[in-house]
Amino acid sequence: MSTVIGIDTGGTLTKLAYLNEQNELMLKVFPSNEMHLVKEWLQNHPQVDEIGLTGGRTEQLRDVLKTMKSIEYIVEFEATLMGVRYLLKQEGHQIENSIITNIGTGTSIHYMDGNSHIRIGGTGIGGGTLIGLSAIMTGITDFNDIKNRAANGNREQIDLLVKDIYQGMDTPIDGNLTASNFGKVGITEDVQHDSNDLIATVQGLVGEVITTLSIQLAEERKAKYIVYIGSTLTNNEHLKKVISHYTYLKKHTPVFLEDCGFAGAVGALLNIMEYCKKDS
Ligand SMILES: Nc1ncnc2c1ncn2[C@@H]1O[C@H](COP(=O)(O)OP(=O)(O)OP(=O)(O)O)[C@@H](O)[C@H]1O
Ligand SMILES: [Mg+2]
Repeated sequence: MSTVIGIDTGGTLTKLAYLNEQNELMLKVFPSNEMHLVKEWLQNHPQVDEIGLTGGRTEQLRDVLKTMKSIEYIVEFEATLMGVRYLLKQEGHQIENSIITNIGTGTSIHYMDGNSHIRIGGTGIGGGTLIGLSAIMTGITDFNDIKNRAANGNREQIDLLVKDIYQGMDTPIDGNLTASNFGKVGITEDVQHDSNDLIATVQGLVGEVITTLSIQLAEERKAKYIVYIGSTLTNNEHLKKVISHYTYLKKHTPVFLEDCGFAGAVGALLNIMEYCKKDS
């Protein structure tokens, strides 16, 4: 494998990206609250001698690794956008300008135009919110469990749609848009809601808030595409469906990346590779 590695240590997850002997991209993930696992992994891979590092937990990981390896730091947004450009190309998308929405623990939104980019917004509603609200409402905390339950849940009894309000008349906007997330609960009789339904509705709330904000920013920048990334989307077909449905309703085109959670780690890897090339 390569002697360099990219690591993105975020609020929830620490992602690793490196190349194997066949020059293929290899990806790995650890919980950020178990950083010793990253250290152990590196101890088991002594051929790695330089780390490209990014993410909000950089200093915490440095503390765990001490002076074990040489580290080249890159700012999170720079790494993410480097990784996004690389992955878009790898995965066959030809997109010059677009909104990039990174649904991590929280959500960060960027505008990319060719080689330049700028952070244009964000929200505290993200993957952390999905897990937090699901945990509080149902006691379920495992991401895979949450994902599966969301896919099997039904939002009909909990969300209030525009057409639910405008019964018997034309709706001023698309009737299938959510008028109020969780809005039906307060205006209907008390019923016990199923865990799957609650989790599906939480995921709907998270997806729709993020998409609505992304679309407003896309309109401001006149960008057709919105590229959604972040580990919250990993094998999360229900969330992708929520996002995709809302993005198309508002006449924009959603793009999802296969390796959606690894843009930062891939960017950090590309950066350390470039750095090593310059150095030699
Ligand atoms: N194995 C997993 N364990 C926990 N959460 C997961 C897992 N896989 C995906 N997730 C989801 O992904 C989210 C974290 O996404 P991501 O790794 O992109 O964020 P981060 O980089 O840790 O955070 P930030 O960028 O906001 O600092 C979690 O909040 C959760 O919803
Ligand atoms: Mg992140």
